[in-house]
Amino acid sequence: MSAPPLTRGLLGTGDPSLAAHLAAHGPLTAVPDLAGVAADLTGRGGAGFPAARKLRAVAEAARAAGTTAVVVGNGGEGEPAAAKDATLLSRSPHLVLDGLQLAAGYLGAGTVVLAAGSAALPGLDRALAERGDRGRVRLVALPDRFLAGEESALVAAVDGGPALPRTKVPPVRERGVGGRPTLVQNVETLARLALLARGDAAAGHTLVTRHTAGPHGRVVDVAEVPLHARLGDVLPLHGGTQAVLVGGYHGSWLPTAVAAEVALDRAGLASVGAALGAGVLAALPGDRCGVRETASVVGYLAEQSAGQCGPCLNGLPRIAAALELLARPGPPRRGLLEDVQRWSGLVVGRGACSHPDGSVRFVASALRVFAPELSAHAAGWCTAAPSSAPFLPVPGGTR
Ligand SMILES: Cc1cc2nc3c(=O)[nH]c(=O)nc-3n(C[C@H](O)[C@H](O)[C@H](O)COP(=O)(O)O)c2cc1C
Ligand code: SF4
Repeated sequence: MSAPPLTRGLLGTGDPSLAAHLAAHGPLTAVPDLAGVAADLTGRGGAGFPAARKLRAVAEAARAAGTTAVVVGNGGEGEPAAAKDATLLSRSPHLVLDGLQLAAGYLGAGTVVLAAGSAALPGLDRALAERGDRGRVRLVALPDRFLAGEESALVAAVDGGPALPRTKVPPVRERGVGGRPTLVQNVETLARLALLARGDAAAGHTLVTRHTAGPHGRVVDVAEVPLHARLGDVLPLHGGTQAVLVGGYHGSWLPTAVAAEVALDRAGLASVGAALGAGVLAALPGDRCGVRETASVVGYLAEQSAGQCGPCLNGLPRIAAALELLARPGPPRRGLLEDVQRWSGLVVGRGACSHPDGSVRFVASALRVFAPELSAHAAGWCTAAPSSAPFLPVPGGTR
């Protein structure tokens, strides 16, 4: 079977200069109806929300409030397994800035912000200087935390406070930065908007961060792939791959055989209970323990919440502690698996943000896919090689 071509439309040649950008894409021209142009574009920050609908909703909220809107590019990428947005910002900053410019023009926005990790800011500042936009776009440094890119946390950070989520009501599209209607759009979404405005068909493609096993450990790269591609053609899956993580740490584990055949699009992934999320694909090698990997990630997710709401204060730490026990081979812990399932059910829909829901979705998929490993642990052994290094990255952990 021949693999679909991996285009480099969004990632460019590696030269982030304005000259290289203009040579590759040509100048940006005015777009009379940006929402119309974005009709088929879905957000690439995790939830897959339709971009046109959000553009129109923010425009409407600003009109209703009789004020000007704010546009914020979200380059936070707090997901530790993701590298697509950081790669995009370093290789193609002008595409992201074009997208911001288009959105700001459509909304008549008074304030334009690009928020990203501090490592990205010098390159972005250079890009702004090249196009004479210093002072027109404000750069904001985000802390390197899982929740910092959640849109209400991002708004709080832009307003000068701690990057913590707040309640969903009122939504930031109505009351965001400085209390004004705010468009928060992932940087890949913005870059795709810039391609669409130029009539570039590759704008329907998507960026994914791939984790595979190499002879010297985990190999991480970012690729641009066509939507609808077969996952097995995009992510190298060797005979030993025991499961595939799709979407990231709010995503889902899939059995390798299921993952290999699934189409990389909303409908295809939904049919197997998954979503593209933060654009992460990870092929877990055969010598790693999926339960141990999951326990380690859930420990990190529990620690990342600021404990503002019940599910994060009580639920996630308990689930993380139980998974730690389940990850250790030993005598069966009677009722513990059922406890994890029960506690998971109790946290869903109860947080101010969707962090608990995303975390227990990841847990539920692990309990399904790694059921044989859980049974092995209960019988006192583990299928992972004793010395194998953990696979998924967890900041502040041992990996
Ligand atoms: C816990 C959590 C973390 C998030 N982190 C990010 C992030 O790092 N970057 C991002 O673009 N969106 C992130 N999001 C999604 C944003 O809240 C928001 O939906 C997104 O930036 C909107 O952009 P889009 O419509 O272009 O996808 C996160 C959401 C949640 C619940
Ligand atoms: S649900 Fe959790 S992560 Fe979200 S705001 Fe509440 S405490 Fe914070």
